Amino acid sequence: MLTPVTTWIDERFPMSKMVREHLTEYYAPKNFNFWYFFGGLAIFVLGIQILSGIFLTMHYKPDADKAFASVEYIMRDVPLGWLIRYVHSTGASLFFVVIYLHMFRALLYGSYRKPRELLWIFGMVIYLCLMAEAFFGYLLPWGQMSYWGAQVIVNLFGAVPLIGPDLAVWIRGDYVVSDATLSRFFALHVIAVPIALLGLVVAHILSLHEVGSNNPDGIDIKKNKDPISGKPLDGIPFHPYYTVKDIFGLVIFMIIFAFIVFFAPEMGGYFLEHNNFIPADPLKTPDHIAPVWYFTPFYSILRAVPPMFGSQFPGVLAMGGAVVILFFLPWLDRSPVRSIRYKGPLFKISLTIFVASFLLLGYLGLKPTNIWGQLGGADVATVVAQLCTVLYFMFFISLPIVSILDRTKVEPDRVTS
Ligand code: HEM
Repeated sequence: MLTPVTTWIDERFPMSKMVREHLTEYYAPKNFNFWYFFGGLAIFVLGIQILSGIFLTMHYKPDADKAFASVEYIMRDVPLGWLIRYVHSTGASLFFVVIYLHMFRALLYGSYRKPRELLWIFGMVIYLCLMAEAFFGYLLPWGQMSYWGAQVIVNLFGAVPLIGPDLAVWIRGDYVVSDATLSRFFALHVIAVPIALLGLVVAHILSLHEVGSNNPDGIDIKKNKDPISGKPLDGIPFHPYYTVKDIFGLVIFMIIFAFIVFFAPEMGGYFLEHNNFIPADPLKTPDHIAPVWYFTPFYSILRAVPPMFGSQFPGVLAMGGAVVILFFLPWLDRSPVRSIRYKGPLFKISLTIFVASFLLLGYLGLKPTNIWGQLGGADVATVVAQLCTVLYFMFFISLPIVSILDRTKVEPDRVTS
């Protein structure tokens, strides 16, 4: 029954061609594991955020006098408004959980290596956009944390030499965070960044399908093709094999998502901070300003670097550098093998230290600097954060040497299952 319809469309639009290229005849390695769920899950969460965001926008008011009350109105009076808001706030945090795991998988299996450098760069730009999207969105409820968080972050731009103060005013649209800031952050959050994200995700997938997926063995499945059909011997069509597998991952993810939405939407103050239930007050700075958990590793790096000549710029530079350095990963890793399965002990130790310092920085960024007291006149938590900052950067700086000196194993010819 469908054939006449699909034929009619195909004569005017390459629908079946696209389905073949990207689904039924896209050959993916047959050894994908748990780590390969997260790209699909990221697409799903992006969809959830856009959909729930559309409904929030119907009732939200981007006006400094009304924003906080409009969010309370959504929570209390709009039918199912509480559900839409909790889906959106939970989605924001889970987006970062999914993305961090997705990026970590690339580190495990060397998925950023040639020929996937551009795919990695698209991913990194997506990551930057995602951080911007979360930052702009966080101002919208106009709570104390929204207000003071934005104040702190925009002031960082003020630390840039020469242009800093003007740059900060340009971003805010005012001398302090105000209604003008709220309006522009709203525009960026609901239109500009989502459009950029959607375009980038398309570019990300197109570049993945151009070169083909990597896999847990890090070997190229295109090297072993069936002489008759020309299809990779270790590949299977993405549809139906991986669509079915991904649906399994999606169901587990949705159970976790629903559990958080219904039973722990604030997640003890980590997904929705307690102070943000207090309306923004420009005259009252909260005792402890901390960003949401997904920014805290970088926030810790910022705090760990001491000011120089009274300027915070070195900290800002270190924080920016911590993100930017990830772009260069494809050229820093010089190992003859891609996957951690065949890399040697040096890389394994190095990656473990890197992950441990990232997590510790994340933990410390959630807390005030004095949590562990003083030792010999020095603040212990700050010293630990400084050590972790050095270790974080050492991973990248030492990678060219580590990857050359390391004792790697020989890669197999065919994927292992
Ligand atoms: C909105 C955010 C993102 C979406 C929707 C997305 C989507 C996807 C999808 C569907 C795949 C194929 C399935 C999979 O390998 O899991 C993939 C692969 C990949 N992504 Fe992303 N991605 C996003 C962000 C990122 C980021 C932030 C990075 C890294 C900076 C990244 C790096 C990669 C790499 C290297 C691959 C290839 C993995 C391999 O073949 O082993 N992605 N992405």
